Amino acid sequence: MTYKDVYDAWKSDPEGFWMEQAGAIAWDEKPSKALFDENAPNYEWFADAKVNTCYNAVDRHVEQGRGEQAAIIYDSPITGTKRQISYVELRNRVASLAGALRAKGVEKGDRVIIYMPMIPEALEAMLACARLGAIHSVVFGGFAANELAVRIDDAKPKAIIAASCGLEPNRVVHYKPLLDGAIELSDHKPDFCVIFQREQEVAELIEGRDYNWHGFQYGVEPAECVPVEGNHPAYILYTSGTTGQPKGVVRHTAGHLVALNWTMKNIYNVDPGDVFWAASDVGWIVGHSYICYGPLIHGNTTVVFEGKPVGTPDAGTFWRMIQEYNIRVLFTAPTAFRAIKREDPKGEYVKKYDLSSLKALYLAGERADPDTIIWAQDQLGVPVYDHWWQTETGWTIAGNPAGIEALPVKIGSPTVAMPGYDIQILDDAGHPVKDGELGAIAVKLPLPPGTLPTLWNANDRFHKSYLNNFPGYYETGDAGMKDDDGYLYIMARTDDVINVAGHRLSTGAMEEVLASHPDVAECAVIGVSDQLKGQLPLGFLCLNAGCTRDHRDVVAEVVKLVRDQIGPVAAFKLATVVDRLPKTRSGKILRGTMVKIADNEEFKMPATIDDPAILDEIREALLPLGYGK
Ligand code: COA
Ligand code: AMP
Repeated sequence: MTYKDVYDAWKSDPEGFWMEQAGAIAWDEKPSKALFDENAPNYEWFADAKVNTCYNAVDRHVEQGRGEQAAIIYDSPITGTKRQISYVELRNRVASLAGALRAKGVEKGDRVIIYMPMIPEALEAMLACARLGAIHSVVFGGFAANELAVRIDDAKPKAIIAASCGLEPNRVVHYKPLLDGAIELSDHKPDFCVIFQREQEVAELIEGRDYNWHGFQYGVEPAECVPVEGNHPAYILYTSGTTGQPKGVVRHTAGHLVALNWTMKNIYNVDPGDVFWAASDVGWIVGHSYICYGPLIHGNTTVVFEGKPVGTPDAGTFWRMIQEYNIRVLFTAPTAFRAIKREDPKGEYVKKYDLSSLKALYLAGERADPDTIIWAQDQLGVPVYDHWWQTETGWTIAGNPAGIEALPVKIGSPTVAMPGYDIQILDDAGHPVKDGELGAIAVKLPLPPGTLPTLWNANDRFHKSYLNNFPGYYETGDAGMKDDDGYLYIMARTDDVINVAGHRLSTGAMEEVLASHPDVAECAVIGVSDQLKGQLPLGFLCLNAGCTRDHRDVVAEVVKLVRDQIGPVAAFKLATVVDRLPKTRSGKILRGTMVKIADNEEFKMPATIDDPAILDEIREALLPLGYGK
């Protein structure tokens, strides 16, 4: 079968295609059909089935003879720990944790927030929720208490599972005070918290609310897997939108199982038993789909790596991992390779290791720049596949289906549409443009299994954000084009989302924080180009009339404010004070033009600009920050 055969087979009979893929999943009750369109455009997949995610990801592999195979390899160069957990151990550990959660009242449909670093217990917590049909929401450790509080108020969790601390190369991240702070800030309060005490920091527990991860499980009955409906939410993952209120992407159980399982062979070309490493973090979608669920559902060995591509201890860490664990596929964000390349441009570390197990490198999360792709190809001697997707879709929209047919790589393109996705490039009026022309990238509805059916508590926002602009389509928020071979090119976001070191962030959310500073009258945050992180946020501040404070103090305060309110992951360190912001005559801030000035790219003077002279002031303000040159 070629890619074209498979894509055409899907296109001519989408329901038949997905029903066939559903055959790989162990159902408690099989679905009667694939697509449920009664509430279109809110589509659902395999809604009337009964199934359990944890059973498919863990128990069935034990029953089918993979019990002794490593399910999880944990390697933490930060703490010097290495550990492997077999499928049978994983089942026992997850069943015990689920039993303890159940004994404290967690049931199907209850929400549980997980706030943990890259340790196997984070995956165990996710799987324990799935075992009970509880809906987890993992919050990335780089977010501050306020961001956690926003998620607590939206998801209203019965319980929160956290670790005492996370470890960054240069510091201990004190999770427990962040958690306590978040619970204090939030209106909703969880019934209880479970704290995994790490050796590096033992946190103080609050009597009656906090339980120790180990003591809490003592003497409880292990829990069996609870079958849930196919359209029961498996999890909520919050992602950045245009405002400070993140979007709670909902993932339904059955479609998630079917789609992720399909991707493991067809996109990543791994067989059960192969070691698959997604070097990301469980707090992001890559972590959900490809550190936790995808590899485990498919019977692979997954890798939990607590470290960085450089500095833990050096730029050879990734190669050491590949050699030591026979890693077949590595999946990471281009920024990780830019970091390695910067430290080791000649690949001296690459030569020290045997990388013969590695069959391919997959990149996603941000634009893969040609230099990085070529460097990776040269150094590793394996295919480098860029692929494009989002938190909302949970798996590849456009990629190279290497397990079906490895298509020629065109550098700069994540390749072609995957089955399930009918990708169209639309003009402002919603009409498809010609090949080679730029437009909004949209996907014809229905989206395939495993993608978002709605936003948590916000179906209207779901429609407004994704469906209303182009009726009959899902609007991806990315702009790009297709060439006449059907290869897709992703050029830019159409909204205020930026991508910093593969982390999706909202400039709108940062503007809300800047605007809360008492001396700031008006502000704008833009994403400027950065050699390492792809983009960096940069803030412009207009101060209140009469404010005579030293600008450096105000800048330092807003930098701290963003770190405290959103978190270190925002990487907000650049800001400057200006007298005024460039606007259109109707008052819209010309952020796009400011980005072009900062990146020193050519731009057309906006016809509607109120006062062109402001653009010179903007360039002047950028020069001391190293931009606009
Ligand atoms: N918990 C707490 N803080 C965290 C964190 C976490 N899980 N992850 C990052 N941070 C902090 C960092 O310590 C840093 O803090 P600092 O300002 O005190 O230095 C800040 O957030 C910014 O982090 P980051 O943008 O990641 O920069 P970095 O300099 O620490 O690392 C890279 C740069 C490129 C090495 C790193 O981003 C990386 O490995 N990226 C891989 C890509 C990836 O995982 N993408 C996820 C989606 S696929
Ligand atoms: P996230 O939801 O965090 O995965 O971020 C999704 C967004 O990241 C997409 O909408 C794109 O803007 C960007 N993105 C992800 N993968 C790629 C890629 N391969 N090429 C270009 N941009 C990408």
